[in-house]
Amino acid sequence: MSNEKLWGGRFEKKTDEQINEFQASIMFDWRLYAEDIQGSIVHAKMLAQCGIISQEDAKEIIKGLHTVKQKFENDELGFRMEYEDVHLNLEKALTNLIGEAGGRLHTARSRNDQVALDMHLYVRKEVGNVLALIAKLQMAILAAAKENIEVIMPGYTHLQRAQPILFSHHFMTYFWMLERDFARFVRAYHSADYMPLGAGALAGTTFPIDRNFVQEQLNFQGIYLNSLDAVSDRDFVLEFLSAASILMVHLSRLSEEIILWSSREFSFVELDDAHCTGSSMMPQKKNPDVPELVRGKTGRVVGNLVALLTTMKALPLAYNKDMQEDKEGLFDTVDTIKQCLVVYEQIISGMKVKAENMRRAVEEDYSNATDLADYLVKKGVPFRQAHEISGKIVHYCIEHGNFLKDLSLDEFKTFSDKFDADVYDAIKPETCVNARNSLGGTSTEQVKKQIVIAGKLLENLLKNTAPLFSE
Ligand code: ARG
Repeated sequence: MSNEKLWGGRFEKKTDEQINEFQASIMFDWRLYAEDIQGSIVHAKMLAQCGIISQEDAKEIIKGLHTVKQKFENDELGFRMEYEDVHLNLEKALTNLIGEAGGRLHTARSRNDQVALDMHLYVRKEVGNVLALIAKLQMAILAAAKENIEVIMPGYTHLQRAQPILFSHHFMTYFWMLERDFARFVRAYHSADYMPLGAGALAGTTFPIDRNFVQEQLNFQGIYLNSLDAVSDRDFVLEFLSAASILMVHLSRLSEEIILWSSREFSFVELDDAHCTGSSMMPQKKNPDVPELVRGKTGRVVGNLVALLTTMKALPLAYNKDMQEDKEGLFDTVDTIKQCLVVYEQIISGMKVKAENMRRAVEEDYSNATDLADYLVKKGVPFRQAHEISGKIVHYCIEHGNFLKDLSLDEFKTFSDKFDADVYDAIKPETCVNARNSLGGTSTEQVKKQIVIAGKLLENLLKNTAPLFSE
């Protein structure tokens, strides 16, 4: 008894049921149906153009593929496990619909270059979607920074209060992280922008195909010049997953801060009620589940990158079935990062900054001690000595249970005769912040400049990458 598979000719037995199920990918790669059909339509056109199939067959195939697409989208097409994957299921649906002509579609093509093409198209499309969402989140961050431009908070190192900074300065850091993420995804797009079809199973094809026609029709900037490379390359997927992992690491760092800041211990921000959940037991709870989940999902996204790196690392050339494992992690990553970006835009837009609490945290602390030392330096005291004096003053304040601003001038003078009445102004939070007016510093002037530049950059980027959004 021969095998009913599309490749069943050389087989005497039917495939074992469990093996069938084990090696099938239709349960997840159906998500490539639009790309698969798009590629097949262009392939059929090319075959006709090159005289490999007749124009009539091509017309029938193309019309049939449109119908198959419609049927799939209307839920009228049942995919079957025994046809393994999206490619064979669609081909089967096409031949069921149009008969013999359908059987000519796969001329000069292998599933190996077909799946490679689908994956390139898919990654390109999803990069466009991700870029648009990153830009939206950047806009929300920019808006929050503008709205709270002069709010002062403690800046931290080692999670210890370090120096007063502007909240807007702190928050804009995430804008720049996302700016680099944006660029990384654009680079992933360019890596995916190479056309693999025409590689056949691995060695090219005996038919007089026109790969450049397919390249142009599908708007690929480049073409693989080595057929083995074309079917065995998944770098572009790894690059996408790597960009996604770094993006998630950034969102996770932001999450960690928002979780801390919305704790009662910090009370620096409050999330919108609509974005939090309560506890089934403790009536007072308002939990920052969204940032927590984003932080949690980072593990899965990074895991997907590591999984594919590990899958690829010892693969001999060219195609190996191992590579079918590239899909679930990629799809999961695409869904996850898109969702995280969407909810984060909401979280930021609804987040209330508690300026008074941030201010209090600065006032009731010693984060102006560097400025006290700098004050003495400006009066001629060597920095090392000034550092020592300021340290002693901090120690004195801790012992007396007060802060630098609470000391009388006489008390200051017991530490150094360089102190004058102007010291009080020098250690005010506003003075500390605005004195850091070096390029990229936390002064209001610098942060305002930063925000203007960031806004223009984003505008330009959006303009220049707009074609990537509209596949
Ligand atoms: N489902 C396969 C994959 O995703 C398609 C390519 C299969 N090629 C083959 N010769 N079995 O990798």
